[in-house]
Amino acid sequence: MRVADELIAEIRQRTSIVQVIADYVALRKAGRNYVGLCPFHAERTPSFTVNEEKEIFHCFGCGAGGNVFHFLMRHENLTFQEALKLLADRLGVALRTSPGEARRASEAEALYELNQKAAAYYHRLLLESPEGERGRAYLAERGVTEATIREYELGYAPERWDGLAGYLAGQGVSPEAAERLGLIVLRDGRGVDRFRRRVIFPIRNLTGRVVGFGGRTLGEELPKYLNSPDSAIYHKGKLLYGLHVAKGPIRSADLAIIVEGYFDLLMLHQLGLRNAVATLGTALTPDHVRLLQRFTRTIVTFFDGDEAGTKATARSLELFLEEGVQARVALLPRGMDPDSFGRAAGAEGLRRQVAQALPVADFFIRQALQAHDSRTPQGKAGVVEAVGPILRKIRSEVERSVYVRRLAELLELDEPVILRALRALPAEGGAPPVPPSGRSAAAEAGGLLTLEEMILKLLLEKPGLQGLADGQELAEAFTVEGARGLYLWLRDAGERPDLSRAALELEEGPALALLHKLAVAELELPQGQARKMLTDCVRRLKRDRIRQQRMALRREIGEASEQGDTARLRELQTELNRLTELERELVRGSAA
Ligand code: UTP
Ligand code: MN
Repeated sequence: MRVADELIAEIRQRTSIVQVIADYVALRKAGRNYVGLCPFHAERTPSFTVNEEKEIFHCFGCGAGGNVFHFLMRHENLTFQEALKLLADRLGVALRTSPGEARRASEAEALYELNQKAAAYYHRLLLESPEGERGRAYLAERGVTEATIREYELGYAPERWDGLAGYLAGQGVSPEAAERLGLIVLRDGRGVDRFRRRVIFPIRNLTGRVVGFGGRTLGEELPKYLNSPDSAIYHKGKLLYGLHVAKGPIRSADLAIIVEGYFDLLMLHQLGLRNAVATLGTALTPDHVRLLQRFTRTIVTFFDGDEAGTKATARSLELFLEEGVQARVALLPRGMDPDSFGRAAGAEGLRRQVAQALPVADFFIRQALQAHDSRTPQGKAGVVEAVGPILRKIRSEVERSVYVRRLAELLELDEPVILRALRALPAEGGAPPVPPSGRSAAAEAGGLLTLEEMILKLLLEKPGLQGLADGQELAEAFTVEGARGLYLWLRDAGERPDLSRAALELEEGPALALLHKLAVAELELPQGQARKMLTDCVRRLKRDRIRQQRMALRREIGEASEQGDTARLRELQTELNRLTELERELVRGSAA
């Protein structure tokens, strides 16, 4: 349905955003705005604001915001079209649709109804017929309860060729329509059942309508699962099984768990982890991820503990990185899937696995460390090559720099070495390194800043924050060539560093080169994050410095004790204690 832009604008203008939102949120007037408790995050003092003139809402707590359509889409899990319809109905405006669109809509409606008839038929057979006993026994043996059977309307397709076909014929349904949905196969003009002797799983879309089916054999025959083909109402790559149930729980948990199979999903939901959805064995697509993003930006994959599961994990994780989703990987013992694990370990066990899920990059680093001997030079190179492409995909500069650093520590290499290696990595497909489309080379460079560079960049962009990064102690913590010089210059330059003066004041050399590099690097700073980022970076730099000093001290202590120099030993020990205390203070500061 394509509605004219003018009509959309008219509906928005005639709608009072305050009145609409007031149906969902208790609002009170505060100056020019209305305020209330945000429905999108838990809060005790109102930071949710609605402005009638500007026709927008905004939450200062969680950042949610937009116009009245956005509000309804998010609050009611509606598509734009659905939100539009709701508002049009409210105003008593008819949405004009073209005859073609109206026809397609009624055809789709007929297909939904046909699928629903089939689902009800299979369900009835499972629960009420003697033939269904086989299906009931199978599901019982797999630990699926009757409540789950009813909630997901599971069914049973008997051994016969003319079960569903006969039933639908009796209902006056055209065999062609049933064939288009993959329910029956036409032979010599007669319909025969496609699903036979299988447990049936109706597949529903977001609004809960049946769009397709999966059927599992009771035994070992192949294929293990028979699925509906794609049709006018079913697109495998766009659908997540169980989402019509999981959408609410996903939003309240602000987390989606993705599993592979029907039984994985049913077991998780049955055990109370109702924020799970299943891909049904297909690779995760960008459409899947975007669909989930309507409900949360945090995803945990919970794939089988086998080769295929690991591969599926690897493939989907790159997608998460590209889509900018916070993703983690829950691991399973080899040979187990969430279904078998859940049956063995219960809800608690499942929750533990999910809670212990590894962030994407950690998962890849772990894989790489298992595949290579990181003590050898070749092994180190192998790890960097394996993990590099992944790290390059991480969008957040801060996050990426943390991993570069961690990798440097794990491989006992210097950070700049890793950074250079990452820059030199061929882009996907063996082509020479190019920045990803839509991003400039400067943005790419900005993405690969070391800790020291990050601090300087922040000071350059936000000179007003200098107070957070002051002191001789910090100046001495810089180790990269030119960094200390640039730090001191920035400090003296005050609130308005004049880059044209830098060429005169900083001698031609590392400090000036660094300044130029940083000046063109693009740093995507989330609103209001600069202060926190700078504090974090400064703290980390100080801490690194202390660690280095401690390592040096340890060496000296070793030497002194070999030489039996007790006076010196005592001195060194005191110094070591001082550093330990300093580090502790820094850690305490970051916890506060
Ligand atoms: P699995 O092979 O992991 O099956 O495929 P499973 O879910 O653990 O099934 P059980 O426990 O043996 O019954 C994962 C998913 O891939 C799809 C199904 O959606 C399945 O749930 N699949 C698998 C198919 O579509 N066809 C197949 O032949 C196999
Ligand atoms: Mn299984």
